Amino acid sequence: MIQIDFKPFPKLETERLLLRAIELSDVDDLFEILSDPVVAENDYFYPVDSKEKAISFIERYHRELENNEEITWGIILKENQKLIGTFCLGSFDKDAKRAEIGYAISQEQWGKGYATEATKQILSYGFKNLKLNRIEATITPGNDSSVKVLEKSGFEREGLVRQRDLLKGKLVDGIIMGMLASEFME
Ligand SMILES: CC(C)(COP(=O)(O)OP(=O)(O)OC[C@H]1O[C@@H](n2cnc3c(N)ncnc32)[C@H](O)[C@@H]1OP(=O)(O)O)[C@@H](O)C(=O)NCCC(=O)NCCS
Repeated sequence: MIQIDFKPFPKLETERLLLRAIELSDVDDLFEILSDPVVAENDYFYPVDSKEKAISFIERYHRELENNEEITWGIILKENQKLIGTFCLGSFDKDAKRAEIGYAISQEQWGKGYATEATKQILSYGFKNLKLNRIEATITPGNDSSVKVLEKSGFEREGLVRQRDLLKGKLVDGIIMGMLASEFME
């Protein structure tokens, strides 16, 4: 069994990005991401239509972190300090040493390799610091850029789970992708 404790908050860094806690002062940048229907299309949430709703997301991130249930990082572009995305690790199974990764990047920053760069750093944190054995993700069929991010980061495509997720009121299949600690260490 592993211990999950996010205090102090694990700040991470890559060549172009800082990964840190999301604060209320990030609300304008976060609203830009969460209000975009294209970003929300393959995720559970409906696009937010007010800054207040974006604030309630930030409050939830803090609550989940406080309870060590889920950790959400803000992805900050070093060159201008703008928050351009969110990444999370959650659904922890401490006995099986497993977690699930999730992410979103602001649409205007797509295709620049930022999601892949952040994913690799979070995998390192998950396997080395949290001592996870498996990190997985489920992707809605058709979300090819997400599959690509995971493949580029070393995940294996393991299969299709039928009617796994309820997305905006509709049951959808999920492509299951996973990576093991032994593969990461290779
Ligand atoms: C998925 C997402 C995070 C990717 O972010 P990103 O920063 O653009 O990702 P990267 O630039 O690191 O890599 C994307 C790759 O997908 C490729 N790609 C983009 N659109 C594609 C498409 N329609 N089909 C196939 N590949 C595609 C890009 O070319 C790139 O690959 P390359 O580096 O080999 O050229 C972003 O699109 C997003 O936020 N989507 C909405 C939220 C979401 O779907 N989250 C995941 C839920 S499982």
